[in-house]
Amino acid sequence: MARGRFITFEGGEGCGKSTQVKRLKAELEASGIEVVLTREPGGTRLAELIRGLLKEEFEDPPCDRCELLLFLAARAQLVKNVIIPALDAGRWVISDRFSDSTFAYQGYGRGLPLDVLRAANGFACWGLVPDLTFLLDVDPETSRLRMRDRETATGTAADRIERAGDDFHRRLREGFAEMAAEDPARIVKIDASGTRDEVWERIWTSLKRIP
Ligand code: TMP
Repeated sequence: MARGRFITFEGGEGCGKSTQVKRLKAELEASGIEVVLTREPGGTRLAELIRGLLKEEFEDPPCDRCELLLFLAARAQLVKNVIIPALDAGRWVISDRFSDSTFAYQGYGRGLPLDVLRAANGFACWGLVPDLTFLLDVDPETSRLRMRDRETATGTAADRIERAGDDFHRRLREGFAEMAAEDPARIVKIDASGTRDEVWERIWTSLKRIP
């Protein structure tokens, strides 16, 4: 049985990943591929509980290292119990965020050392690297507008990380762009401005690069 493929979606807040992730799943299934859809942090009961902790408001919010370790704990559980078994069974796995988010948010954003993150992340995910990553890139203004629309539509306020400030969000956008430039064979940077259909066309066209 051929091993499945592992595809991840990355990007800053309001880049429109979640819509595109669902569309890719539907299109792949329509062509007869079995797909497991997951998200990070989350995707197992334990990891979803950790997600809740990471989104929670605390009087003494998690320090940067605590935040990192919570993301990695959730990832270890998801990789071991969901992603690796699915790939071994020949299914394709699509994840809404994965390791690149850790490098962008905790590395470029929070300023934790990248070499520490590489070692800790490799340990947490058994060295698993996606076959293909779509980086959905939007300018800060579009990101702000989309977040505002989402808050209005869902009636939820921005969480602790979403509120981290313009400078933080600028650093993580630059970080994502740098990672894409360093690993162009895996990370495809997609212009995520425009309509959902326009963004989808860019993704679908780039999918043929999957090894
Ligand atoms: P979201 O995917 O629903 O936007 O929520 C996940 C939030 O967690 C988002 O703000 C990005 C952040 N995040 C990190 O800071 N580090 C990580 O490793 C991951 C997976 C997500």
